[in-house]
Amino acid sequence: MLLGAVQLGLLAACIVLFVPMAMAGWHLSRNKMLFFSCALFITLAVGVHLMPYFPSISAFISPSEVITPAPSISSLYHDSCLSSLHSVLYSGVVKQCDNESDCNKSWEWIKSNQVNDCEFQKLKKSDASDLLNGSWVVVAGDSQARLMAVSLLELIMGSEQMERIRGDLFKRHSDYSIMVNEIGMKLDFVWAPYVGNLTELVLKLKRNKNFPDVMVMGAGLWDMLHMNNASEYGISLRVLRDNILTLLPVSSNLDPDSGGVSESKSTRLLHLFWVGMPTLMTSMLNTDEKRERMTDVMCNSYDDELNRSKLLRETGGPLLKLDIHLLSNSCGPQCTADGMHYDEVVYGAALQIMLNALLIESNQKPQ
Ligand SMILES: *[C@@H]1O[C@H](CO)[C@@H](O)[C@H](O)[C@H]1NC(C)=O
Ligand SMILES: *[C@@H]1O[C@H](CO)[C@@H](O)[C@H](O)[C@H]1NC(C)=O
Ligand SMILES: *[C@@H]1O[C@H](CO)[C@@H](O)[C@H](O)[C@H]1NC(C)=O
Ligand SMILES: *[C@@H]1O[C@H](CO)[C@@H](O)[C@H](O)[C@H]1NC(C)=O
Ligand SMILES: *[C@@H]1O[C@H](CO)[C@@H](O)[C@H](O)[C@H]1NC(C)=O
Ligand SMILES: *[C@@H]1O[C@H](CO)[C@@H](O)[C@H](O)[C@H]1NC(C)=O
Repeated sequence: MLLGAVQLGLLAACIVLFVPMAMAGWHLSRNKMLFFSCALFITLAVGVHLMPYFPSISAFISPSEVITPAPSISSLYHDSCLSSLHSVLYSGVVKQCDNESDCNKSWEWIKSNQVNDCEFQKLKKSDASDLLNGSWVVVAGDSQARLMAVSLLELIMGSEQMERIRGDLFKRHSDYSIMVNEIGMKLDFVWAPYVGNLTELVLKLKRNKNFPDVMVMGAGLWDMLHMNNASEYGISLRVLRDNILTLLPVSSNLDPDSGGVSESKSTRLLHLFWVGMPTLMTSMLNTDEKRERMTDVMCNSYDDELNRSKLLRETGGPLLKLDIHLLSNSCGPQCTADGMHYDEVVYGAALQIMLNALLIESNQKPQ
């Protein structure tokens, strides 16, 4: 990709230099030559900067794919509003909470220049309905992923309708599927407690050649509790990453040296999110086994493996992290009863972060 940019620059320089010289051969005056030079230079400069916004033009200019104008996803991540999406602050988080209705927990994006420029907004039911109208959303993973699905359905359908299906959605360890007819949105929750289950799901999607528009996944708690081996977790994450990359239409543009995935030509974009593990309040966990195995040290090494697997955008991978660890940690012990599953406010914030990321990625927002 870098090579493409360099070649493009050289090409532009040659045109600026040689076209007016050739024209001079046609007896143009020096002033006219200068004028042509400047005009060409400006045209090319503008063209180069606009090209990423006109994929069809760049496809036309570079049929051989030598030039890939879009920056890699990882650099997009660091430059863009995506990296400030998690700047949130809770309020109403009180220590003693005897009466549920006293505990009116809420959250806001921190008011800073960066956040203001990004124009983050909490999407209401109607906004979210517009955004997800006609789409297929797959949420796969453990209980944290299930809580994300709950938050999404609560926003889209309202809490009353949600109450009616809550029982089905919370049948332990089961899949759940619903078609929200009003907006033609299909949501599949796939119970996938281990990373290997997520890989299986990805392979199944690939076999069926049928891909969702949005895919939200995450697993780790079961692995930590039952396997308790971070390096094996890391291995399974790498297998998942490799399979996701072959699923993506952009995989052919993967440049292992830059560690990034470049944007594809005209293919539909699959939006991928990773539901991170929550902060575990070890002393609050409800079994001895959990308290023994799910320690801070173990959490750290699982997190470390996640980084090293390069599954996430921050590390050049394909998935955008919904940082439940951060979001749950700042809500604190007042927001959890069992040290592992947090109040709705945490997953509600994560959901809005996800929806705003979708807005950014579908170019309906400042980058
Ligand atoms: C909690 O507060 C609400 C409204 O303030 C009240 O109606 C309800 O009885 C209270 N419940 C308990 C268990 O105190
Ligand atoms: C809860 O807090 C939000 C924002 O702080 C406020 O708008 C709302 O009225 C509160 N609800 C209750 C029941 O106190
Ligand atoms: C969803 O999209 C369809 C067609 O694009 C439109 O007719 C319908 O009104 C939309 N529904 C909502 C709730 O936005
Ligand atoms: C998930 O993977 C585990 C271990 O490979 C397997 O035992 C289990 O049946 C799988 N669960 C689902 C729901 O596929
Ligand atoms: C974790 O798994 C790796 C690879 O399978 C193995 O070499 C290592 O001994 C295991 N560690 C523990 C503590 O079981
Ligand atoms: C993982 O990466 C993130 C961001 O790059 C960093 O903030 C975090 O400390 C890393 N975690 C570990 C355990 O290295």
